[in-house]
Amino acid sequence: MMKTKNSKTVLKGKRIIVGVTGGIACYKSCELVRLLIQEGVDVHVVMTSSAKQFVTPMTFQALSCNQVHDDLFNLTQESEMGHITLADSADLMVIAPATANFLAKAAHGLCDDLLSTIVCVTRAPILLAPAMNVHMFENKIVQENLNKLIGLGWQVVGPDSGSLACGYEGHGRMSEPFLIVSAVEELLTRSKKKK
Ligand SMILES: Cc1cc2nc3c(=O)[nH]c(=O)nc-3n(C[C@H](O)[C@H](O)[C@H](O)COP(=O)(O)O)c2cc1C
Repeated sequence: MMKTKNSKTVLKGKRIIVGVTGGIACYKSCELVRLLIQEGVDVHVVMTSSAKQFVTPMTFQALSCNQVHDDLFNLTQESEMGHITLADSADLMVIAPATANFLAKAAHGLCDDLLSTIVCVTRAPILLAPAMNVHMFENKIVQENLNKLIGLGWQVVGPDSGSLACGYEGHGRMSEPFLIVSAVEELLTRSKKKK
C-alpha cells in the first residue's frame, strides 16, 4: 500500500466501526479489518444477520480483538457498550460491503437492526463500499438511493469493475481492502482539517 507521510498518525488510535452487510464480498472485509488493526485502529465490527451467513462473527472478533456487535436487543452487548455509546464514540464508520438492501434502508432512515440504528445515531463521517451484481448496481432505485446518500455527504469508494463472484463481468466488485483503507485515511484527514 502507498503510504502518505502521516498516514500512520491519522489512523492510529482512532475508533472505527466496520459495518458488514450480507454480500459475498464479506470475505474481503476480514482483510480490511486486519489492515486497520495493523495501523493501530480500534476496530469495532457490527454485522447484520445476513452478513453472518457469509462470515462468522468469530472471525471478525479474532481479527479485531474486540467483541463483535450483532444484535440490537442483546442484553449483554447493550450493557457493555450500548449502541448509542458505540455510535457516539466512533471517529468514522465504514460499511464494507454495503448491500443494495443497506443502501435502501440508509437512504430512507430505517432503523430495524443494530447497524442501521447506529448509522442513524452517529455523527461520524460514513464511508460506503458498495458491492453487488452489476445489474443490481445499475438498477435505478439502487442508484437513486446511493445518490441520495452522496447528496447527504456520505462518501463512497468503488465499486470497481471486473469479474464478479456471481459470474458476471462489470461494475459491482467491492474495492480492494487497501483502497478502502486509503479512502478512510483521506476522509479522516479531511475531517481533521475541518475541526
Ligand atoms: C450468495 C448470495 C450473495 C449475495 N451477494 C450480495 C451482494 O454482493 N450484494 C448485495 O447487495 N446483496 C447480496 N445478496 C443479497 C443480500 O444478502 C440480501 O439482500 C440481504 O437481505 C441483505 O441484508 P443486509 O443488508 O441486512 O445485510 C446476496 C445473497 C446471496 C444468497
